Amino acid sequence: MMATPIASSITISFLFCVSFFSLLCSSKNGYALDGGERKTMQSHFHTFQVNSLLPVSVCSPSIKDKRKERTVSLKVVHKYGPCSHLRPEKASAPPTLTEILTRDQSRVNSIQSRLRQNSLEKDSSSNSKAATTIPAKSGIPIGSFNYIVTVGLGTPKKQLSLVFDTGSTFVWTQCKPCIVFCHKQKQPIFDPSHSTTYKNITCTSRQCSQLSSSTSTTPSCSTNTCVYGIGYLDGSTSQGFFASETLTLTPSDVFPNFLFGCGENNKGVFAGEAGLIGLGRSRLSLVSQISSKYGNYFSYCLPSTPSYTGSLTFGNGGRSSAGSSLQFTPLLSKSQDPTAYYVDIIGIKVGGKTLSISQSVFKTPGSVIDSGAVITRLPAAAYDALKTAFRQHMTQYRMAKPVSGFDTCYRVKKNTTLKIPSISFEFGGNIEVAIDYSGILIADSSNACLAFLGNSNSSDLVIFGNTQQKTLDVVYDVAGGKLGFGHRGCS
Ligand SMILES: *[C@@H]1O[C@H](CO)[C@@H](O)[C@H](O)[C@H]1NC(C)=O
Ligand SMILES: *[C@@H]1O[C@H](CO)[C@@H](O)[C@H](O)[C@H]1NC(C)=O
Ligand SMILES: *[C@@H]1O[C@H](CO)[C@@H](O)[C@H](O)[C@H]1NC(C)=O
Repeated sequence: MMATPIASSITISFLFCVSFFSLLCSSKNGYALDGGERKTMQSHFHTFQVNSLLPVSVCSPSIKDKRKERTVSLKVVHKYGPCSHLRPEKASAPPTLTEILTRDQSRVNSIQSRLRQNSLEKDSSSNSKAATTIPAKSGIPIGSFNYIVTVGLGTPKKQLSLVFDTGSTFVWTQCKPCIVFCHKQKQPIFDPSHSTTYKNITCTSRQCSQLSSSTSTTPSCSTNTCVYGIGYLDGSTSQGFFASETLTLTPSDVFPNFLFGCGENNKGVFAGEAGLIGLGRSRLSLVSQISSKYGNYFSYCLPSTPSYTGSLTFGNGGRSSAGSSLQFTPLLSKSQDPTAYYVDIIGIKVGGKTLSISQSVFKTPGSVIDSGAVITRLPAAAYDALKTAFRQHMTQYRMAKPVSGFDTCYRVKKNTTLKIPSISFEFGGNIEVAIDYSGILIADSSNACLAFLGNSNSSDLVIFGNTQQKTLDVVYDVAGGKLGFGHRGCS
């Protein structure tokens, strides 16, 4: 195989990187919740056994089949949980709190630095196309906290498990012949030569010229085939042919001419999955490409533990905001990062009492919701108020030393029964969203820690992370400009 332009390139130049990758995703340490132990909380406390936050080894699919007319629902599994076939054969120990945090922090650093980069570029009038070179680090197995869905690609269709991420905007999978490099994946690598519906996109096509707004990298050209490159600020990259294929979500949801990246040079933090599904705001994201059938509307539910399955659903199934159990807050978009889903966080309640936090603390840096960041990041003033109030309700438990970045930890045993205060978030539009108890504490067998972190710089973005979204029905009505939350979306 002759070297193509992508083969000779080790680093990619970026105008700036708009995509970030959900490496560090999920705090899903394998928490098991025994349905029987879950107490319905009208009160301001949750009572449960620490056991119910710890890993178990069996998968219990969510029982609810919420499939409605005019929607398509995919099963969401945690990559290393018992519901996933990507799980390593040797059941490895669940990640420690320190590992979770280290991975999560690099994602968050990526998001923060992307925003800083973008605002720098906005400020510099002279050279708005300043390129940044990002070194590709390969083989660091930190992509282990992701949520994945399985889709069919090609004719005949081949099943591929892809990470889904609201923080990125492009869909790609590794492709044979892997001209430069493919990392190992569980399922066979997609081979376009075995599909009758695969088509290369030509360099002169309209689609090729649309690429750069999704990947933030100018496409190149190899024997008249459009070549994409996408880099994530953690150093992961994928390059290959821009192509179209038949995408099969379910037997009745088949999308011909779906645009995707056929990755021939894939580096970075992947661990078994075949690629990535971006759900951010861009024309090439999965949600945009199937919007003619389902509208610009999707929702997901992330399970309380990897022992359950969640769902990723496209279309609203005739669900109207009036009379539904969903509560809506406006989805905002900001020029610093037009692909991200911004929201207005306005306050936090602990044990039913609103904390005294100035709203400007959230407003000044702005807030995003992210399916990939694990732990919610709050302005320091908000985090301090939260932890102080939380601790006041927890005086009957012995505090533990801080565990990596978490500073509000308690010594527990598996059979310890905890009674903890409820925590809810207030969003613009005057809604209050109660966090499930699996989203309040993060635990291992001897410590249970308050699962929030403070930002070190008051201009750092506020991030509503995936731990705090567990079991919520999270609805992105992108066309309607609003984000909905419902309770008990999944187990
Ligand atoms: C797609 O383009 C690449 C690079 O030009 C080429 O090697 C490959 O054979 C093409 N595939 C098809 C199906 O045209
Ligand atoms: C909890 O487990 C410990 C051993 O880890 C045991 O000594 C203790 O009796 C148990 N307590 C209860 C209430 O079951
Ligand atoms: C906080 O971030 C801003 C913007 O990125 C930067 O200018 C400032 O120096 C940072 N402050 C500290 C204390 O790091």
